[in-house]
Amino acid sequence: VVGIGKDEFFLASDATPIIEYTDQVIYLEDEEICHIRRGKELKIVNLHNVEKKHTIEQVTLSLGQIEKGGYPHFMIKEIMDQPACMMDCMRGRINVEASNIVLSAIIDNKDKLLSARRFIIVACGTSWHAGLIGKHLIESFCRIPVEVEYASEFRYRNPVVSEDDVVIAISQSGETADTLAAVELAKQKGAFIYGICNAIGASIPRATHTGSYIHVGPEIGVASTKAFTGQVAVLTMLALTLAREKGTIDEDTFRTVLKEFSRIPEQMQQVLTLNDKIAELSKIFTYAHNFIYLGRGYSYPVALEGALKLKEISYIHAEGYPAAEMKHGPIALIDAEMPVVVLATKNRLYEKVLSNVQEIKARKGRVIALITEGDTVMPGIADFCIELPDLPECLTPLISTLPLQLLAYHIAVCKGLDVDQPRNLAKSVTVE
Ligand code: M6R
Repeated sequence: VVGIGKDEFFLASDATPIIEYTDQVIYLEDEEICHIRRGKELKIVNLHNVEKKHTIEQVTLSLGQIEKGGYPHFMIKEIMDQPACMMDCMRGRINVEASNIVLSAIIDNKDKLLSARRFIIVACGTSWHAGLIGKHLIESFCRIPVEVEYASEFRYRNPVVSEDDVVIAISQSGETADTLAAVELAKQKGAFIYGICNAIGASIPRATHTGSYIHVGPEIGVASTKAFTGQVAVLTMLALTLAREKGTIDEDTFRTVLKEFSRIPEQMQQVLTLNDKIAELSKIFTYAHNFIYLGRGYSYPVALEGALKLKEISYIHAEGYPAAEMKHGPIALIDAEMPVVVLATKNRLYEKVLSNVQEIKARKGRVIALITEGDTVMPGIADFCIELPDLPECLTPLISTLPLQLLAYHIAVCKGLDVDQPRNLAKSVTVE
């Protein structure tokens, strides 16, 4: 992107670092070259030196959005901002009284989406975890098969993709090289591409046929937090809308889930009051060398996401596992030195997760359990419990992710690490 100032220009990979100086920008296309010369007009040409027309766009970002707002790190600001971000993400899209969800990309492309033979979600890292939750939502509500692929694998696998497929590309930055390449490949094979991105005007939203922005504002901390909950929120709205159009959800379920969904910002606010408690808890685990995160169903991707957050900012080795897989290997790792974070909210599989916790305790592992408020059984078994509000199972990831983000954050702070810019990592991975 090129920023146009008064007698000056700026170059950056997105508009965020430029906004301090100018809100006038030009987004360059692939294979365009921008000539910037002192005292001369800016000129854009293609590889054959043919001049290209350009449009100056006004960026709507405000400076406040890219400042820490009194917090010591961007990451904690972005965690704490999630209730407000959720409202921004839902604004103009949901209407509880009318029991309606409006995603313009779905209205405009209804036939294409409803006639899809299957959906393929391509993404990397945290966005891939959101994709796993999307699979669960779309398959449960819409009864459309969904595959979730690492974009980096998909692009080199010569995947079977056809015109009957819809590919959903999820990316916070909209610039991840592997996800962009996966989009281009799927497009060549005739698939219809739906983008779920945060950065407005980035390469992926420009390369897709349609899409929905998550509207959570710029995310600056390298560890993705509010983008994850924004992605899951958009996937929830997408699944509910398509399910209603397809007739695969009954009206009562739609209304109940939508009503509870609209209350997510206040539920998040309640969960964030646990911050001090989690900060205290993190002191106990600062010097752990390993962590295991367990969850089932909708909570399995949350376990993966909790482990990724811990790894990337605290440099503690952590693994996320589906809880029932524990007996197929990871249980061998459990001893008194192994903290195990268990997503154990009340749902169909609660009793099974409870029995996993008993197995861990029998081997002296230390259990931090995320439970539903009012659960009187788990506090008698687990070492530490974090209580969460009672929600329909499909909405729990929007809430249960927050304590895991806080846990990773506080452990990294206790270790004195650079939370916002962890070693070896970049915010936008624009190379392979
Ligand atoms: O911008 P993207 O969502 O495409 O980025 C994908 C991953 O690079 C990103 O989620 C990464 O895993 C984060 N650092 C995780 O916190």
